[in-house]
Amino acid sequence: MTGTTEPTEPTETTEPTEPTEPARSAGSTEPSTASAPSPFVHGPRRPGTPALEARGLVKHFPIHSGIGRSLVVHAVEDISIALPAGTVTAVVGESGSGKSTLARLLTGLIKPTAGQVLLDGVPVGTGAKARRKYTSSVHLVLQDPFSSLNAVHTVRYHLERPLKLHTKLGRAERAQRMRELLERVSLTPAESYLDKYPHELSGGQRQRVAIARGLAVEPRVLLADEPVSMLDVSIRLGVLNLLDDLRSGENLATMYVTHDIGSARYLADCIVVMYAGQVVESGPATQITDEPAHPYTQLLLSAAPDPARAESPVLRGRGAPPSLVNPPSGCRFHPRCPFAMRVCADALPAPLPVGEDHVSACWLHASGLTGEQREPLAATAERVPAPVGPAGEAPDDGTEAK
Ligand SMILES: Nc1ncnc2c1ncn2[C@@H]1O[C@H](COP(=O)(O)OP(=O)(O)O)[C@@H](O)[C@H]1O
Ligand code: SF4
Ligand SMILES: [Mg+2]
Repeated sequence: MTGTTEPTEPTETTEPTEPTEPARSAGSTEPSTASAPSPFVHGPRRPGTPALEARGLVKHFPIHSGIGRSLVVHAVEDISIALPAGTVTAVVGESGSGKSTLARLLTGLIKPTAGQVLLDGVPVGTGAKARRKYTSSVHLVLQDPFSSLNAVHTVRYHLERPLKLHTKLGRAERAQRMRELLERVSLTPAESYLDKYPHELSGGQRQRVAIARGLAVEPRVLLADEPVSMLDVSIRLGVLNLLDDLRSGENLATMYVTHDIGSARYLADCIVVMYAGQVVESGPATQITDEPAHPYTQLLLSAAPDPARAESPVLRGRGAPPSLVNPPSGCRFHPRCPFAMRVCADALPAPLPVGEDHVSACWLHASGLTGEQREPLAATAERVPAPVGPAGEAPDDGTEAK
């Protein structure tokens, strides 16, 4: 787990970069154009085709302001991420940064406003057959295992249902498979769990059953959205170790969504840091936590000394995350950033290389800025907005606004 990290000014690492419209490839010194650069793809670097890949994902939720105006929540903006088999990618950020929306986009539960998802390098089709293949390949584990299991059904029902729907196994083979699945998630002896109802299990056992149910269809990809944040501290490590074990044993491509950067370091190969719907930094987990380059990651680490904490970290004295209905111009972190310069309010920084496979989207890494562009913005305290909810923004109720 990580210690605390005070914000430090990142070093300059790149050639001159003109602050213009967002460039989208790491290290690019050219402004973005409609046709040219391919997006920077975040995630662990592995040879071959990743199990799951998203290119240029955007999600804008339409909402109503209450005064007849239509508005949109810019929940996910232009994210490209690749999840190779046998790896864990942690997606880290404060509450409201778009982590769950990204996970739901990757499951296909909600449709992207723009962008594309590829399974084994092939764009996901829309027909019923393609959909079935996709749902048996990509499994979502939710934060609250109680809500993801049906209270009126036993463990046996939860495990047998996907086996009936997605396999041709006979009754005896299904019984055998159910025992194997429970053993795989360390619920042994399996027979003593099969006829239990969710309320008869502990939180950790329920989460293990939810994971076993997902494994029933032999998925390629596991998307775990805050899978341990509602569990007792004492049993979190066990579930994290299970995810770790599934990475190697089942060769799963796992995306681990969390607000706890310490657990991300413990489990993940790569950490992707999100802020206000965008990726601000990504790279190998140890590099991100030992040498965070982006001021937001630095503050996140300094606010996260307690791995036992269940709630989101608070960047004390730095205000609240911005409204995603009307996000800040330029770098979306600029109203809270201790290093904000004039350029930061004007233009979105591209992801720039700051280490091996490590990028950070921050103007501090660019050289060639003019003196005027480097001018500090007014004192940060004056720019930190009051922690208010955006007018008319719908709460995250887990349903898609139509
Ligand atoms: N169905 C929805 N309708 C409107 N806005 C939504 C919906 N779901 C999420 N949002 C908004 O999208 C933003 C990102 O939310 P979310 O992905 O849940 O963040 P996180 O998981 O990081 O806490 C938030 O501002 C949230 O209110
Ligand atoms: S681009 Fe500017 S505002 Fe954004 S994190 Fe870097 S220094 Fe701070
Ligand atoms: Mg969430």
